[in-house]
This record gives sequence, structure tokens and C-alpha cells, in this order.
Amino acid sequence: MVALDLVHASNAQLRQLGPGLVALFVGATSGIGEYTAKAFIENALSPRVYIVGRSESAAERIINECKDLNKDGKIEFLKADVSELGEVDRVCAEITKKESHINLIVQSQGNMSLRGRDESHEGIDRKFTLSYYSRMRFISNLLPLLQSAATQPPHFSRTLSVFNAGFEGKLNFKDLELKNTFSAARCATHTTTMNSLMTEEFSKRQPATTFAHSWPATVVTTGLARELPAWARVAMNVLSPLLSLSNLAVSNEETGARQLYIATSGVYPPAKPSENSPLASGVPAPKGLHAPMLGANVVAGSGAYLVNWNDEPTGKQKLLQEYREKNVGATIWEHTMGIFERVAEINQGQ
Ligand SMILES: NC(=O)c1ccc[n+]([C@@H]2O[C@H](COP(=O)([O-])OP(=O)(O)OC[C@H]3O[C@@H](n4cnc5c(N)ncnc54)[C@H](OP(=O)(O)O)[C@@H]3O)[C@@H](O)[C@H]2O)c1
Repeated sequence: MVALDLVHASNAQLRQLGPGLVALFVGATSGIGEYTAKAFIENALSPRVYIVGRSESAAERIINECKDLNKDGKIEFLKADVSELGEVDRVCAEITKKESHINLIVQSQGNMSLRGRDESHEGIDRKFTLSYYSRMRFISNLLPLLQSAATQPPHFSRTLSVFNAGFEGKLNFKDLELKNTFSAARCATHTTTMNSLMTEEFSKRQPATTFAHSWPATVVTTGLARELPAWARVAMNVLSPLLSLSNLAVSNEETGARQLYIATSGVYPPAKPSENSPLASGVPAPKGLHAPMLGANVVAGSGAYLVNWNDEPTGKQKLLQEYREKNVGATIWEHTMGIFERVAEINQGQ
């Protein structure tokens, strides 16, 4: 476990990366995204931050609170329902009009609904899209801006998907998008495993950027339970205070700090950081810590990281190793790009 004081010390050094970092937080109108965005804004010098979600009132509150954290920060809310890829494309186009580079993308959009398949007009399930397709689409659309960040000082370029790293499971290759075999549990397994495999696929294609997938552990004071059935919300309301008092839950403040650490620390460098620019790897690693960390393929500093709530690697996994040997990552890449093409055709036809 990376000690929390080391995490805080590292985050406090974020200013070493200089003024004007550009960051996008999707799903930052609540919960883990909000706490991570606030930690970033508090520690960065004159950052430009975009937050994406649906709730205007939450965004207004957060922007006001952020003014107290950093009066030099510039924060803009982009309202969008990113359970639709057309909306993801619209937001990315808006950002691309305003920015030539982007240093950091943190994504935590999602819900815990137990509903069955909920297909949008794009022909894909909304929950699957929030946890997986929208996240890959944001990264994919904004790769040129991440690349551009890697080629100019401080050469810092990162993405983090906050979800379920470490909980990968077997994929149904006959129905990767779960068109005919959807259940909430299968959706969690597919989107988790696909998030993990894609960190490596993106890193292979863009080695000057770090790609990470994390699991935040249990963070009770978030909005995640909103879309649960009433009986489950009641159970959560009873359990949450007990969890908060136990060691089983991570506080808001700690989760924001730990996710920011994953997003910025030099212990998670890109596969090929820009030469002669030490900050390309991120905030220099705290003394006493082994750096770089083991990547998803269990090679130190591989550029693709699966990270536990305590900022350590999730560990070697037999299934992922088997999938790596069978080049399943390439299959998931092809599948994902195929979905993007199919949805683009549907949206163009409307
Ligand atoms: N909390 C935990 O204990 C825990 C544990 C493990 C994994 N996770 C994962 O961590 C991620 C974040 O969870 P959280 O607890 O922070 O949840 P949260 O408080 O409910 O935050 C979810 C965020 O996603 C946004 N969102 C949801 N649907 C959206 C949509 N259709 N379009 C745009 N934005 C949307 C919400 O914003 P709007 O409502 O404004 O749209 C909100 O900002 C989730 O993927 C969750 O599965 C959480």
C-alpha cells in the first residue's frame, strides 16, 4: 500500500508540472470524479478543467466550491448524456475547438442500476456504454490532443478510467456487446475486462501517454446508488454509515487523493516518455517508493496500469495472462472500433 502521506506529498508536487495543465473529468458532477477533480484543481497551477455530466446544479455547486480551492483555475461544465456516443463526439468536438492539447483525462461516468438491457437509439446498452464504450470513445477521439500534450512541455499525457480493475472475468466472445445475453453481472464483467485490455491496446499505439484503469474500493458517499431499486437504496442507506465507520470504506478525501496520485505520479510512467523531459513521466516518485510500478503485463513501467484502491498494482492475473497470450486485446480493439463505425453510421443516417 502506498502510504497516504506519500500520496499527499506527491500530489502537492503537481505544481512542478507548471501552469496551464488541461484536464477533462467525465463523471465529475458527483462522487469519485468530483473528489478527484477537486484534488487536481487544488494542487495544479492555473489549470484549465472541463467537467462532463448531466446535472447543471451539481456542476454549478462544484465550480463554486473549486473557486475556493484555486482562484486561478478555470473550470467549465459541458453538459452531456454520455450514454450516447453521439454526445461523446459532440463534447470532444467542443473541447477540440478550444484546446490544442489535453494533459489528463479521468473518467468515472456510470451507475449501479440492476436493470436489464436498456438499448439507446444507437443500438447499444446505455450502462455498457457508460462503463466502457463512452470511455474508449473519449480517449479515441482525443488521442491527437493527448499526443500533442506529450510533444510539448511538460510532455505530460495521461488517461485514467476509474472502474473495476482487478475484477476481470471471462468474456463471451460470441456476444461481446451482450446484445442477447445481457445481465447486470455480465455487463460488469465485460466492461471491466474490456477496460483492462484496452489500457494495453492504447498504450501500444500511443506509447508517450500513460493509460490506467483503477478500482477505488468502496466509497459510500457518492451518488452511485441513485439508480438502484428502492429496496436496494434502503439497504444501502442502512449499510453506508456502518461501512464509513469500518475499515472497509475509503473516505471522499482519500479517494480523491489516491485517484489523483494514479493520474499524475511518476511511478506510472508512459511506455516511452518523451526523452530529456523528466516530467513526461509525471510527478517525480516519492523517496522510498519503488518506481516505476508494475504494468498490466507485469513489466515495470509498461505504460498501461491496472491499479488497486491503495495505489498498488492489482497483481498478476491468470486470466489476463491467458488473454494476452491469445491476443484477445486485438479482438477487443477490433470489436470496439467496429461498434464506433456502426454507431457513426446510425447517427449519420438520422
Ligand atoms: N463508489 C464506489 O464504491 C465504487 C466502487 C467501485 C467502482 N466504482 C465505479 O466508480 C465510478 C464512479 O462511481 P461513483 O461512486 O463516483 O458514482 P457517482 O457518484 O454516481 O458518479 C457517477 C458520475 O457519472 C455521471 N453520469 C452518470 N450517468 C451519466 C450519463 N448518462 N451521462 C453523463 N454522465 C453520467 C454522473 O453525473 P450526472 O448525474 O450529472 O449525469 C456522476 O458525475 C463508477 O463507474 C463506479 O462503477 C465505484
